[in-house]
Order: sequence, then structure tokens, then C-alpha cells
Amino acid sequence: MRGATGAAEAGAVAVAATAEPLAAPLLDLHPAPADTRQLVIEGLSRSPKQLPAWFLYDAEGSRLFDLICQQPEYSLTATETALLEQQAPAIAAALGSGTLVEFGAGSARKVAPLLQALAEPAYVALDISAEHLQTACARLQGQFPQVPILGVCCDYSQLEQLPVHPLLRGSAHLGFFPGSSLGNFEPAAAQALLLQFRRLLGPGGRLLIGIDQPKAVARLEAAYNDAAGVSAAFAFNLLARLNRDLWGDFDPTAFRYRARWVPEASWIEMALVSLRPQQVQLAGRRWSFAEGEALITETSAKYSPEAFLKLAATAGWRGEKRWSDPAEDLSLHLLVQAN
Ligand code: AVJ
Repeated sequence: MRGATGAAEAGAVAVAATAEPLAAPLLDLHPAPADTRQLVIEGLSRSPKQLPAWFLYDAEGSRLFDLICQQPEYSLTATETALLEQQAPAIAAALGSGTLVEFGAGSARKVAPLLQALAEPAYVALDISAEHLQTACARLQGQFPQVPILGVCCDYSQLEQLPVHPLLRGSAHLGFFPGSSLGNFEPAAAQALLLQFRRLLGPGGRLLIGIDQPKAVARLEAAYNDAAGVSAAFAFNLLARLNRDLWGDFDPTAFRYRARWVPEASWIEMALVSLRPQQVQLAGRRWSFAEGEALITETSAKYSPEAFLKLAATAGWRGEKRWSDPAEDLSLHLLVQAN
């Protein structure tokens, strides 16, 4: 059985799983502190100020993001999960065989129907948040004791190659990138990421990707301004993280959270806006904020199926199949390599 083989072989490169409770091996390739400091300096030197979205996902950020996914205004998660559950047999049939590699797995709650439906599943979860990933993989391993599972803590956008591991032997892997996380990357970076995935997944690799679509502005803005204030808390947690990890003195009461639809860019822009002129210390430097100046915490681009497939084509991917909810809020696209 693959489960036993995978776990035994995994010991070669990662912490071996022991008996109780079921634990999946975890490989830690998180960016080094010196590199994250450099990214912060680059991001705050930019105009407007903006950091890579993965900075939002420390342990607390990952917890808050899970909470966002449960807010009634943020229907993306429920809609995509239902679509995956309903279409799992058709999706699994179209995917074929290969190791499922999820980029930004988070709590890894969307993959279960696929693991259920695939003939001989194996699963590699990539995520920036190590503790969260470990918990998610352990939970999933308990649910699927016979499926070989590997967690890899990394910034998947900077990963030059998949780790050398029995589950990743050969090529033609199956990429899984749900949740419209591609939206966090601006067009040029999104194209680069899709090219990168093509390389990582290897010749014959396929990519199942969830893409949120443009919809009524009021609905879009409400999804990122939930009444319970979780979206705001998620953004403010970035300041807490920067203060803790890079010796900062951000005063959260001197900022307000703003999420707005930017029609020209077809994205939601989320930002912390300075309430007054101020100086902040961080990473051993002093940074000035003008009154009204934004620190963009993330952008979340929305693509119509046509616009997305056009982007995917520039990265060598062709749309093979598409599944959508009845309201056409979002799509799951199955991409195959164009040549
Ligand atoms: C994980 C990037 C898809 O943009 O909808 C949700 C992140 N941030 N609410 C999104 C997010 C605030 C989410 N993605």
C-alpha cells in the first residue's frame, strides 16, 4: 500500500512520522529571517508601501483567515467547497493520476473530496505557516490514514523546485490552487507564478485552480469588510507580526482598515491607512507615513473566465474544463499544458 511506503521513505528527508497521533512529515523551507527583513525593507521603500501577502499568515493570521472563511459575507469558501464536493468524481476523473500538490494549503480543508475521489491519492501541502500546516496535515492524516501526506513550509512563489521526495518522484504532478489565491498576485507576478507552477508540476502536469469572478461591487466590498470585523483584524495582525518579528513600534490605533474595489485593476485593495503623519521604527530603520498614506496589506484580483484563460495562456496553460456554481460567482478551472 502506498501509505506505508510513503511514510517509510519520507524518513530520508524529513522528520519521520511516529506512532501516536498520526503525524505527516514536515519539511521546513521557510525564508530565513535575514531574507524576510530584506523583503520588508523593500516593501516599505516602495510607493505605495506594500509587503508580499504571505506576511499576513503567521499562526494568528492563519487562524484569523480561517475565521474570515466562516463569515457570511465571505461566501467564496463555502461556494468553492460545495462545488468541490459536488463535482469531486468528475474533477478526479479529469485530473487523472499523479501526486496532488496544493499551493498555500492553509487548513487543507478543501482537498478532502479530491482525496476521497482519486483512485490512488498522494498529497503534498505547501504553506508558509509551519504550525498551521503541521496541524492541518495531522488532521488530514487522521482522516486519511492510508494516503501518503507531506507538508512543506515554504513561500511557494519563490520555490525553485519541488523537494526531492518519493511522493514527488517523476513528473506530471497535479497542482491544486483553490481559494482564488492567485488574486493576491498582480498580473505580471500572477503570470510568473503560473509559469513557475508549470515548471514545478513538470511535463504533463495539470493545475486545478479556483478563481473568484467579478460581481456586484457591494458584494465584493462586503466580503472584505465583514460586519464582525475579522477582515480588519486580519490586516491589523500584520502590524503585530511586524512589531514582534522585526522590532517595530507600529501603533495600531494610528491606522484604519480600508477595503475597496478598484475597477480599473479589477481587484479589491486592502490597506491600513495612516490617520495622521507619523514615524514608525521597523527593521532597524525609521519609516514616515503621511496622513492618509496607505500600507497595502494585499490586493485580491477577480477574473472572468475569459480574462483568466487569457492570462493562463500567456503562461503556457490551456483550459481543459471549467466548473462553476449556479450564480457564476467563481470557477474551478482545470488547466493542461498547451504544448
Ligand atoms: C486567500 C488571497 C484568496 O483575497 O479573498 C480574504 C485573502 N484577505 N479576506 C482573498 C483574504 C481578506 C483571500 N485569498
